[in-house]
Amino acid sequence: MPDAPERLPVVIAETYDDLARRLARRIAEVIRAPRRDGRPAVLGLATGSTPIGIYRELIRMHREEGLDFSRVVTFNLDEYVPMAPDSVHSYHRFMRENLFDHVNIARENIHIPRGDLERSEFEAHARDYERAIGEAGGIDFQLLGLGQSGHIGFNEPGSSVASRTRLVVLDTITRRVAASDFFGMENVPAEAITMGVATILEAREIALVATGEHKAAIVKRAVEGEVDRDVAATYLQQHPHATVYLDAPAAAELTRRKTPWWLGEIEWTPRL
Ligand code: GLP
Repeated sequence: MPDAPERLPVVIAETYDDLARRLARRIAEVIRAPRRDGRPAVLGLATGSTPIGIYRELIRMHREEGLDFSRVVTFNLDEYVPMAPDSVHSYHRFMRENLFDHVNIARENIHIPRGDLERSEFEAHARDYERAIGEAGGIDFQLLGLGQSGHIGFNEPGSSVASRTRLVVLDTITRRVAASDFFGMENVPAEAITMGVATILEAREIALVATGEHKAAIVKRAVEGEVDRDVAATYLQQHPHATVYLDAPAAAELTRRKTPWWLGEIEWTPRL
């Protein structure tokens, strides 16, 4: 792998729709790119409000431009524990409703960590998840949101750079942010299963996406702060092909402090 760039490249879009379109276009390129060994494109996918517009645009591209998901393989980042897959709070259900039910992806190509297992079963499930990613050829493109705690996936403060898919205890900040969705913090699950930091960093290309002024402070730490296990997103600074995509409000803390150093547009071709 080439060395990581000196700074994380940052792309700032005028509006959320611009950002969503740009990311959907990039994902479509990854899906359509021919691969040396003919293997399918492998996408790492995220939940939360941030990626919804990206998924909407991918659905539009599928319907209107024939974007073909039949050979796409996906791995989601995480799921709450405990969580039944058909619960309104489940990331399984989120992904069906916001993407999978609307494109021609093969059910057997969809992977999402399970939140409905017995405690004793999670270790083996996490190992199987890692193995499945490897067998698929590794993740070509990993989409990430950014939690207020600085988490990527559910890698909360304290997560090691070597961490793998595992059961984690959710941070208080994360549970507070989720409280409104769950009608009270006491209803937010205490735990989750998440891909690890090492798992994420093995993706060939990574897009960290954040929108809204409530993310501005944590975006600044992720982009400009020291690499720090208390803000898992800072580990992305060590990745050779990670890019941060922001709308203007999420970029406010970066732009206010200095002359913008980003170019606005960064193009490169991943090694497939
Ligand atoms: C949850 C998810 C993360 C996501 C984060 C941000 O905690 N586990 O993967 O990135 O929320 O969510 P949002 O995009 O709604 O701000």
